[in-house]
Amino acid sequence: MQAKIAPSILAADFSEMGAAIRMIQSAGAGLVHCDVMDGSFVEPITFGGQMIKNIRPLTKLPLDCHLMVEHPKTQIKFFADAGADIITVHYEACKKISADYLKETLGLIRSYGVKCGAAVNPDVPVENIFDVFPLCDMIVIMSVFPGYGGQKFIPATLENMKKAREYAIRIGRPDLDIEADGGVTVENSAAIKAAGANVLVAGSAVFRSADPAKTIAELGR
Ligand code: DX5
Ligand code: ZN
Repeated sequence: MQAKIAPSILAADFSEMGAAIRMIQSAGAGLVHCDVMDGSFVEPITFGGQMIKNIRPLTKLPLDCHLMVEHPKTQIKFFADAGADIITVHYEACKKISADYLKETLGLIRSYGVKCGAAVNPDVPVENIFDVFPLCDMIVIMSVFPGYGGQKFIPATLENMKKAREYAIRIGRPDLDIEADGGVTVENSAAIKAAGANVLVAGSAVFRSADPAKTIAELGR
């Protein structure tokens, strides 16, 4: 199956972000994956809505904002106003606040006319978010623990991707995007797509490649 490739700008040189966006766009990226980290849900801090605002005019590609933050609801307006096309939030952060927080946050994202999604970590069964599948445009299956680029793919997460795709089909949502996020390489991309992911995040695989266009083509094939 042909997959959409979402290079993660976490792997870019932030002082040259404009060039990075132009490079991935000309190399055939399908989306721009923007890894937002708050220094609390995950240790590092990356960037906020201002980065999205600055890169928005540089590309027509969908800006896929992955919020690795403790209180995602508080951030939605900043990313929606900045021009995000998709905002995904973590089940693990939401469930700490309340049973309904994830559903409420997804509804808030949609209220801005922005696509929404839920993300689960490698140690969380994707069944835990089956209840919000009908509310989502995309499901993010973390294939590394969030916080850093350049980590090794965790093969056990293929199971979550498979179950996510099977469930999406079962509820009549074959169009639901299933995104694999973390440690994606040309070597493991076939297994990831076979498991049912159709959006592949690739940070280091693209930004460390001598030929990003070739890498993106191979990842997506
Ligand atoms: C990790 C991020 C991933 C990561 C992907 O917390 O969500 O998007 O940056 O980078 P690679 O492809 O290098 O694992
Ligand atoms: Zn990510």
